[in-house]
Amino acid sequence: MLDQVRDVLNRIKSPEGQGLVESGYIQGLTEDRGLIRLVLEAPADRANALAPLKAAVEDALKALPGVSGTQIITTTQTTSKPAPEPAAEAPERRKPADAKLPRPAKHVLGVASGKGGVGKSTTAYNLAVALARDGLKVGILDADIYGPSVPLLSGLGSDAKPDLDDKKRMIPLKAHGLELMSIGFLVPQDSATVWRGPMVQNALFQLYGSTLWGGGAGLDVLVVDLPPGTGDIQLSLAQQSALDSAIIVTTPQDLSMIDALKGVSMLEKVGTRILGVVENMSGFLCSNCGIVHQIFGAGAAQKLKDLKNIDFLGAIPLTLEVREGADSGNPVMQNTVETETQKAYLHLKDGILSRI
Ligand SMILES: Nc1ncnc2c1ncn2[C@@H]1O[C@H](COP(=O)(O)OP(=O)(O)O)[C@@H](O)[C@H]1O
Ligand SMILES: [Mg+2]
Repeated sequence: MLDQVRDVLNRIKSPEGQGLVESGYIQGLTEDRGLIRLVLEAPADRANALAPLKAAVEDALKALPGVSGTQIITTTQTTSKPAPEPAAEAPERRKPADAKLPRPAKHVLGVASGKGGVGKSTTAYNLAVALARDGLKVGILDADIYGPSVPLLSGLGSDAKPDLDDKKRMIPLKAHGLELMSIGFLVPQDSATVWRGPMVQNALFQLYGSTLWGGGAGLDVLVVDLPPGTGDIQLSLAQQSALDSAIIVTTPQDLSMIDALKGVSMLEKVGTRILGVVENMSGFLCSNCGIVHQIFGAGAAQKLKDLKNIDFLGAIPLTLEVREGADSGNPVMQNTVETETQKAYLHLKDGILSRI
C-alpha cells in the first residue's frame, strides 16, 4: 500500500516542479490500518506552499482505495538555531511564540531534568494525577520526543491514537482522569528518533497547538514532560512550549545535582519561573522495616537551595510501588490507600499549587 501512496504523492509537484516524494517533501511516511501519517516538510522559503500542498496531499490520499484517514504534520526546514537570547528583563510569564495558538491551559507547568533516568516522567505523571484528584482539569503533554513515557505510564500503549475532530484537531487520549498527548501516540518510536532537531521542534509545537485540550475550552493545568538534558533542542522546546513555570527533578547524588544546576540555567535562559526542585528516589523506603535508607546520600536539594536559592518542593522516596505502578500503567497516585509515597506526591502537589 505504501508504494501506491508514494506513487500518488509523487504525482503532486513541489514548488520546484518535482514530485513531492522525489524532492524530499514527504518524510516519515507510515500506514496503519488505512491511516496514513506523514510529515510534509518544505524549505523555509517555501513555507507558503505548505497549506495548499497539504490540501492536495489530503485529497489525493482520500481518493485512494483502502485509505481510512490521514494525519499530516507540516514543518519547514530551518537550520537548528539556538533559542534567541531573552531580553534583558525576561517576562515572568511567556506567551506562546505564535500568538494565533490558543492557550492549552490556564497554567503550563514544565517538568525538567538535567539528565535522563531521574524519574522525571514518573514524577510528572503522578503529580498530574494528584492535581486532577483535586478536581482540576489536568493534561500531560509528553514532549520527550526521544523517549516518550506517557503511552507506558498511562497503560494505553503506543498503539493508542488520538481521534480528530471535524477541524482536524487532535482529541487528547484519556486515562486516570487526565488528558494525554504524546508523540509516542503519533509516530512509531523508531521514526521519531531519526528526526532532525527542527522537525522535532515543529512537530511538538503542532502537538501543543493543534490539540483540543479540555474539549477546546482549555485545561486548568497542562504538565509538560520536557526531554531530559539542556541542549539546543531542550532549550527551544522549553521556549516554544510557553511554560508559565517549571520544576526540576533530580536524584540525591551530587552528580545529578550538577545536572540539575544545568537545568536551572536552561530555564533561566528562556525566562521560565522555577518553582523549585523535587528530589526523587530520595532514600529507599523499605516496605519490611519501614525505615528510609539513604542509598544515594542526601542533601542535593538543600545544596541547590544554598547555591541558587531554589525552593525545595519535597522528596519522593524510592519505592517498589512507584516503579511497579509506572511500568504497569497504574500510577501509584491513583490507588485509594494513602501510603507514604502518595503523601510525598500530595505534598509536592500542594507546594506547587501554593506557588502558581
Ligand atoms: N520514586 C521512585 N521509586 C522507584 N522507582 C522509580 C521512582 N521514580 C522513578 N522510578 C523508576 O525509574 C525509572 C526511570 O523513571 P522515568 O520516570 O522514566 O525517568 P525519566 O523520565 O527521568 O527518564 C522507571 O523505571 C521508573 O519506574
Ligand atoms: Mg521520561
